[in-house]
Amino acid sequence: METKLYTLTGSEKDDTIYKEAGEIIKCGGLVAFPTETVYGLGGDALNPAASGKIYAAKGRPSDNPLIVHIADLEDVKKIAKDIGEDFYALADAFWPGPLTIVLNKSDCVPVETTGGLDTVAVRMPQTEGALGLIRNSGGYIAAPSANKSGRPSPTKASHVWDDMEGIIDMILDGGEVGIGVESTIVDLTGDVPMLLRPGYITVDMLSFVLKKEVLIDPSILEVMPGQFRPKAPGMKYKHYAPKGELYVVKGTGFEAVAKKINNLAIEDIKNGERVGIIATKENESLYHEGIIKCIGSRADEVSIAHNLFSVLREFDDEKVTRIYSEELDTPKLGMAVMNRLMKAAAHKIIEC
Ligand code: TXA
Ligand code: MG
Repeated sequence: METKLYTLTGSEKDDTIYKEAGEIIKCGGLVAFPTETVYGLGGDALNPAASGKIYAAKGRPSDNPLIVHIADLEDVKKIAKDIGEDFYALADAFWPGPLTIVLNKSDCVPVETTGGLDTVAVRMPQTEGALGLIRNSGGYIAAPSANKSGRPSPTKASHVWDDMEGIIDMILDGGEVGIGVESTIVDLTGDVPMLLRPGYITVDMLSFVLKKEVLIDPSILEVMPGQFRPKAPGMKYKHYAPKGELYVVKGTGFEAVAKKINNLAIEDIKNGERVGIIATKENESLYHEGIIKCIGSRADEVSIAHNLFSVLREFDDEKVTRIYSEELDTPKLGMAVMNRLMKAAAHKIIEC
């Protein structure tokens, strides 16, 4: 199949693009589009065949449910039931924005979209690239991140092109995304709100708005995976994996960590490995081996989240076979970033 690639300009000209893209979705096709978190791979959420195509395009297991994206708050009533005060408080505070809310699903949402669950994850994204598409395609777009399953999530249209060219109908290029890690997921179907995936909206921000404690799914925090069964099915899969083998190096003090990484890199290079190092701006000068990439500044946490997936893909392009990263455990976004980094590293840690 030929994949069309259109660049959004933010002007009225985009309207014709949204119309064409909307028609594709209404006819059961797939369109990738920019959101503020990562690029999504959209299909009609109420059409089971479209959901099937999404799973096939990604090579994703079909028990891993899709998020339904809406552009109008009223539309949530069609796809979800038992919508309470907590939902409206969160939607009011954070939508449109990088928060996904899990609710009980109504009958019109096919189980193909929800991976067999009787709940549905709903999100109203922020970018015009997403909202324009949703409005023109019937209002309900199921969209996982637009990467092949297991690969780093796409933060640029070129990443989507690399993974999806020839497989989907259209890609809308809205430039680089703003945030760079996927939305926070909170489940409101239990007795207590529960964080299922960390993201830009932190637990403290959720608790502040809800005026109550938000529990954290224990699987998010576990060091060794497999101990707890995650409530968001997608969290159990191998994820974000770069082609090179990634290790997170932990220790007391940045100098000790850098020394360890430099020594590991020297050994590896001797053994013919191509080594990449993920450093923060504050510590970049401590490294002197391999291909050193600055991921952002500890003083600007968003820069780290923004660059994470992109840096992993760049190492793939440079055919790096081994990657070492500092711990990126910054105060607010550290939980979201470390969650992705540890998965990308398949939880391989080197302590020093
Ligand atoms: O930022 C985002 O959320 C991006 C953009 C495109 O909106 N989308 C995204 O989708 O990250 P995906 O499919 O890569 O991740 C969705 C996650 C998976 O871990 C899935 O298991 C979980 O959401 N999820 C979806 N529906 C759920 C449900 N009903 N209950 C629990 N977890 C659910
Ligand atoms: Mg994903």
